[in-house]
Amino acid sequence: MAYFNKKILIISPVHQSLIKELKEKKYSFRYFPNINEKKLILESRDAFLIVLRSGVKLTSKIIKMSQKLKYILRAGTGLDNIDINAAKTKNIKVFNLPNLNSQSVAEFGIGLMIAASRNIAQADSEIRKNLWNKPKFYGFELNNKTLGIIGMGNIGSKIAKIAKAFSMKVIANVKNKTKKRKLKIKLVSLKYLLKNSDFISFNVPLTNLTKNLLNNKNCKLLKPTSVLINLSRGGVVNEDILHNLLKKKKIFAAATDVFKNEGEKSKLFKLKNIIMTPHIGAMTHDAQKLIAKKTLYKINKLLR
Ligand code: MLT
Repeated sequence: MAYFNKKILIISPVHQSLIKELKEKKYSFRYFPNINEKKLILESRDAFLIVLRSGVKLTSKIIKMSQKLKYILRAGTGLDNIDINAAKTKNIKVFNLPNLNSQSVAEFGIGLMIAASRNIAQADSEIRKNLWNKPKFYGFELNNKTLGIIGMGNIGSKIAKIAKAFSMKVIANVKNKTKKRKLKIKLVSLKYLLKNSDFISFNVPLTNLTKNLLNNKNCKLLKPTSVLINLSRGGVVNEDILHNLLKKKKIFAAATDVFKNEGEKSKLFKLKNIIMTPHIGAMTHDAQKLIAKKTLYKINKLLR
């Protein structure tokens, strides 16, 4: 089969430069920035390579039903939305493109910290109704506050660097302490971090070890003035517990870019002391252009 006849199926929003290149070079590809399960099953049957980002799941059912699939390319970092075991069973190779969007996500995280601690989204929505309620919007500075970072991978380390420029005291909880010594950041237990941080940023991948990292027991350690930022995955912070903490005002505020079931309604939508965004931490022209370039390079390698 000539390489240009092998079907590439793109099932997430990717940068236009990738689509333009694929069109110009006459690759055989189908592009669905928003795809439903039924269509995905249909389209993946004869796909040779699937390109995806977060927000869509490649389940074992889809993988099992595919007939020509050889490669799955995750145009980003997290692999939690792909059934890796099902892929292995069918000898389908899975690749990701890590660390190309980490600066975008880190900057976004700092933005969420300021937005949540200064009530920016709520103040914006009120002024549009001609409500000028200054006393309602007391917030907190970042200056001199303790930022607890859970997970010091590419994103966590970049957040730490920016936070230091805001004169924050940074502490971190990591899985492998010896590897992270060179970061010159105080490494602490999860308990210590939850108890002593003013801001907490979750930056770990979703695995069996990190699922429900914030749970019924350890959430009691949080300061009532704390601000939680979830940039990792919805499953890392238990959404029912987060809802409860915010509803009962056990913490000051939260911001989340990720949800347990993305694309669906969440009970968090009803709360005012949380800022929510539809998994857009990596959505910058800078990061997505770079990812598009590397995706094209990888497609060429895999197809030939
Ligand atoms: C990632 O894992 O790289 C992020 O979830 C960004 C994305 O692809 O949407």
